[in-house]
Amino acid sequence: MELVTGSRERPSASPDRKADMQNAKLILDGKEYELPIVVGTENEKAFDCQKLRDTTGYVTMDPGYGNTGACQSSITFIDGEKGILRYRGYPIDDLAERASFLEVAHLLMYGELPAGGQRLEWQNYVTRHTLLHEDMKKFFEGFPRHAHPMAILAAMFSSLSTFYPENNETDLEQNMVRLLAKAPTIAAFSYKKSVGQPFIYPRNDLDYCSNFLHMMFAVPAQTYTVSPAVHDALNLLLILHADHEQNCSTSTVRMVGSSRANLFASMAAGVSALWGPLHGGANQEVIEMLEGIRDAGGNVANAVAAAKDKASGFRLMGFGHRVYKNFDPRAKILKKAADRVLVELGVRDPLLDIAKALEEAALNDPYFVERKLYPNVDFYSGIIYRAIGIPTDMFTVMFALGRLPGWIAHWREQRHDPKARINRPRQIYTGPTLRRFV
Ligand code: CMC
Repeated sequence: MELVTGSRERPSASPDRKADMQNAKLILDGKEYELPIVVGTENEKAFDCQKLRDTTGYVTMDPGYGNTGACQSSITFIDGEKGILRYRGYPIDDLAERASFLEVAHLLMYGELPAGGQRLEWQNYVTRHTLLHEDMKKFFEGFPRHAHPMAILAAMFSSLSTFYPENNETDLEQNMVRLLAKAPTIAAFSYKKSVGQPFIYPRNDLDYCSNFLHMMFAVPAQTYTVSPAVHDALNLLLILHADHEQNCSTSTVRMVGSSRANLFASMAAGVSALWGPLHGGANQEVIEMLEGIRDAGGNVANAVAAAKDKASGFRLMGFGHRVYKNFDPRAKILKKAADRVLVELGVRDPLLDIAKALEEAALNDPYFVERKLYPNVDFYSGIIYRAIGIPTDMFTVMFALGRLPGWIAHWREQRHDPKARINRPRQIYTGPTLRRFV
């Protein structure tokens, strides 16, 4: 088999741009096949092999989808080599510094930041939907007190479909906003349930982050004031998690949505995919790992040695990424933010010192250098969540709250794509050949 590329003018993935494209030829068993090339607005290139099986009988093989483009998307751009992350063209650093999470949610879902009066209108629209139907409170009563909040979140997302059917486009669009609005209420109720406190209802006079903190930390008959430092830290964390193009949970959302399953069912699947320790569950695992190092005397060298020993089954949690190979821009922002937030809140956390020592030891170790393993977004996020009072088993729920607008944006984009088809990969069968039942 041989693959040859040659120049040819083809329309690019961007409708307003023509690029000097290349045309690929696949030479297989002496025959030539043309493979159309798709080029994105940032010059990312792909061979289109949709017809490959029909024309050649071959499928492409890529377990873990490390090199497979499953869709074209105009939401988020990542350049893993250069450490670039942009939502709808805006660099993550700019958004992290200047925007509110709800503005970013609007940007991801609808393509633009809300401008002028639209900003308040959008906030009011979301705020109007923060209440849960009173009947939903009964579901919370049924869960055991120590139920993991990710299990509750997935169950509640799914059960929203029983209250809000999707009969037409208007329902559908409204359900996206309902979900964005109700998710913090569900998350906070699951926490209140776990600590045996009464549920605190949402307040319409508060912005998204303040309202969530109020529902988490207020108790009846006592005044709770949201600290600006805590508010800003939460806003930052949610923005940094808001989208990350194709990843395990987002691609799961698209996969489930591709069968035309309803929005809530698709999002519940996203929550389940995120829960795993190799994905969003890593932020909880990072803190548990740092606590383990602290309890064993604080020696980071042992953890580094165990992570290098494949037989140990231990990995440095919060380290490594499929796409980022030099640094994760979100981790850079969060490392600085962790220092700042802890000072602002007057919190002294020995886990931050252990995390920094661990990072330094790993970054100077040839095992991590050769494999290009750097701290990812989950490495420092847990330290900040701890400092603002979020319990460890809620960390992945916080990731889910942040990622929600990204999931919705991808689901929406796919639903509006006239070329979208049900997702149905192929496989290479390796089991027994035909045998007879005797
Ligand atoms: N500690 C020790 N070794 C590691 C680690 C780690 N954290 N991550 C990767 N490696 C090694 C791995 O053993 C392999 O070594 P070798 O080439 O000798 O077999 C090599 O590095 C490549 O790893 P991989 O598992 O093939 O890489 P992947 O792209 O399939 O996995 C990952 C990416 C993030 C799942 C992985 O790096 C990992 O398990 N990290 C720890 C969990 C974690 O922090 N997850 C959060 C990811 S960021 C948030 C998100 O988007 O979910």
